[in-house]
Amino acid sequence: MARLLDGKAVAAEVRREVARGVDAFVTAHGRRPGLDVVLAGEDPASQVYVRNKEKAALEVGIAGRVHRLSADVSQAALLGLVAQLNADAAVDGILVQLPLPPGIDSLAVLDAILPAKDVDGFHAESVGLLWSGRSGLVPCTPRGCMRLLAEAGASLAGARAVVVGRSNIVGKPMAALLLGAHATVTIAHSRTRELPAVCREADVLVAAVGRARMIGRDWVKPGAIVLDVGMNRDESGRLCGDVDFADVEPIAGALTPVPGGVGPMTIAMLLENTLLAARARALAGARGA
Ligand code: GUN
Repeated sequence: MARLLDGKAVAAEVRREVARGVDAFVTAHGRRPGLDVVLAGEDPASQVYVRNKEKAALEVGIAGRVHRLSADVSQAALLGLVAQLNADAAVDGILVQLPLPPGIDSLAVLDAILPAKDVDGFHAESVGLLWSGRSGLVPCTPRGCMRLLAEAGASLAGARAVVVGRSNIVGKPMAALLLGAHATVTIAHSRTRELPAVCREADVLVAAVGRARMIGRDWVKPGAIVLDVGMNRDESGRLCGDVDFADVEPIAGALTPVPGGVGPMTIAMLLENTLLAARARALAGARGA
């Protein structure tokens, strides 16, 4: 029977830590850390995510603001808003919610964000810092996964880790973090040959493919730690992960549920990234940088 990795409880602990850090920041600097979220268009899932991010920010004392733009916003207008937020001293973190409407060059918008305010960790400079083992802002979902692995007491040095999924948001940064923790890392994806056998090698298996209940018990090494990043709807509209929970639970060593596993960690880590960005900016300001 797998140990359940309770992301909801760990996320609540992270939020309490961030709230204490925010209080100390306000005392030291006389202002609240600021997080500005840009939402373009009416994607229903994005609207829910953004509302949750704003609410979570306000709950820990971060000044959260959402900039809602219509789906037909121009690239120039989006870049103009990002430039304005870059220049605003009260803004510590900028998050542009993805996906952006068709016709917008997402990478150009992400690369327009000042790296010091890049709380998503998607800027090319943040990506380069992560892969070269230097400190920068790190994407929220993979950071949340690392925190859950720490809570699970995973010993990553020398362990075999398989990340299924190669997105810029989860798969690639997750692989970089596991590598940084001295795991032997494989990035697998939908075109990987003999995918179940590859996954079965893993001491740590991270599923981030977006296919409902794809990973069954014969994909999992007995005792493995399994993190499920998937957020899918099954045929009956129920929220489910990439892992077939009921099938895998009897043989995994530890497993995240969906919902209540990795999901809550993403927002908690966004709040933590905002506090880290605020502290780093305050320090750079004090140095006159
Ligand atoms: N869309 C889905 N996940 C994310 C995320 O982590 N950050 C942003 N900006 N957009 C997303």
